[in-house]
Amino acid sequence: MRTLKPLFEGNKRWAEKIKENDPDFFTRLANQQAPQYLWIGCSDSRVPATEIVDLAPGEIFVHRNIANLVVHSDLNCLSVIQFAVEVLKVKHIIVCGHYGCGGVKAAMGKEKHGLMDNWIQYVRDIYTRHQIVLDAHPDESARYNLLCELNVMEQVWNVCQTTFVQNAWDAGRELNVHGWIYDVGDGILRDLDVTVTNRAESKAIRRRV
Ligand code: CO
Repeated sequence: MRTLKPLFEGNKRWAEKIKENDPDFFTRLANQQAPQYLWIGCSDSRVPATEIVDLAPGEIFVHRNIANLVVHSDLNCLSVIQFAVEVLKVKHIIVCGHYGCGGVKAAMGKEKHGLMDNWIQYVRDIYTRHQIVLDAHPDESARYNLLCELNVMEQVWNVCQTTFVQNAWDAGRELNVHGWIYDVGDGILRDLDVTVTNRAESKAIRRRV
């Protein structure tokens, strides 16, 4: 199929619906984006950032990858964080993981996946770091859920360690880093209560993860 007609038709319907409610919506957005939030989430199709928090286009700057990882040498993710913090001056960075994450599941198994295993290794490392706590759960699904949560907390820590976030804090700017988890089974977000608003709090998070 050379063109995906249903998607273009869907797009027309969507744009018309928005213009019906707010005729200037796109003209306004075309001039400038001024989102307050940076979302770092999983690529999973069931976890679209803007939709699940019921916000409109223009309100969230988004970076997604498999298992919502923040890797210190990932130029893609780092560039997104830098742009969000230094140019857009977002006030909130949200790391949002989700239960039922295929990337986290892959990290728990022994199956080989090719190139992707190199990426998933970051989650395997988190498993190893928390092995005692994780293995204390006899139930595999409880272990799986916990690893999804621990992964978010580790990524919150990683965000806090970036030079851009540290510089913003040193400059006295308001910048909050949040760790959330989304349940694909009920559509509900949960706050993991690991919000970091300054350097001192980031150290406290390190002790927890
Ligand atoms: Co996922």
